[in-house]
Amino acid sequence: MKNNVIENRYDLGFFPTPLQPLHRLSEVYSGYSIYIKRDDNTGLATGGNKTRKLEYLIRLALNESCDTVITAGAQQSNHCRQTAAACAVAGLDCHLLLGGKKPARYDGNLLLSSLLGANIHFTGAHRKGEDIQVIKMKLQDKGKKCFVIPYGGSNFTGALGYVHAVEELQKQLAEQDLKIDYVFFPSSSGGMQAGLTLGAELYQLDTTLMPVNIDKDETHGLSLEEVVFGIVREGAGIFEIEREFHLSDISVIRDYDKAGYGVVTDHERFAINLLARTEGILLDPVYTGRACYGMLDYLKKRKIEPGSNVLFWHTGGLPSIFNYSTDLYR
Ligand SMILES: Cc1ncc(COP(=O)(O)O)c(C=O)c1O
Repeated sequence: MKNNVIENRYDLGFFPTPLQPLHRLSEVYSGYSIYIKRDDNTGLATGGNKTRKLEYLIRLALNESCDTVITAGAQQSNHCRQTAAACAVAGLDCHLLLGGKKPARYDGNLLLSSLLGANIHFTGAHRKGEDIQVIKMKLQDKGKKCFVIPYGGSNFTGALGYVHAVEELQKQLAEQDLKIDYVFFPSSSGGMQAGLTLGAELYQLDTTLMPVNIDKDETHGLSLEEVVFGIVREGAGIFEIEREFHLSDISVIRDYDKAGYGVVTDHERFAINLLARTEGILLDPVYTGRACYGMLDYLKKRKIEPGSNVLFWHTGGLPSIFNYSTDLYR
């Protein structure tokens, strides 16, 4: 049962992504051994964590004989850019609902989504898919068979990408004879966190998940914990997991989201500069810059046990750097 669900995906990315030690960064935070999982290299139109989710979502869209995919996000949405690319690969029409007004100039992810052939609708204050049903009805009236991917690709189907990713990580840890004590990653629409939570249970990954919250706003009236819990509970039923999950089992680190979604502060700048200059690795200003700063702050303050092996799960997002150039380059 588990294997049937996990194997039913549409091939979009380059897997496994590398699992690497960060030697020079570990010297800066002495007492810790820091590793990185390179989901910025998943391969689909500059990569990122959504490629894993889309392998399952696009498979379902094709199984349901849909010809059109609709999804939503911010103008610099990595999810939307990767959805546009996945639709191009699968031969599906793609409609993106992006918050804000049409800008005078397209750059970063917005430029790439457009190059990848997406039909773009600007939806003002609505950046989390509030208008999806309106667009869906219009497209249906034109005879289209639509498949809706929720904000961030975060439902049970999308989360399967990170259930599968845990299996992939477990194999790499066994090959490298390595145990990871803590896994830090950005959590925003919740699908990655839900998938990792389910995967950790299914594949007995003995590690503590350290999701760093990115967006302090709720999604459709739900907190991030509630969204993650909903997906985990559904998945636990489908996979017949014995453990009973409670909302209190789902936690997120909320110490680094105060500036608001997409606002670059000294925190993000610090992490981006340090990773670039010690390891030649580029983080993004919205997600990985913020989450990596959270991890570095935990290490600096010794909030987790010295001697631990710590993994940063890089989730991509590079194209938005070009939209934030004035915030990053001073
Ligand atoms: C680069 C990047 N990292 C992390 C996330 C958060 O993943 P999730 O939405 O599954 O919580 C996103 C979501 O858009 C993202 O684009």
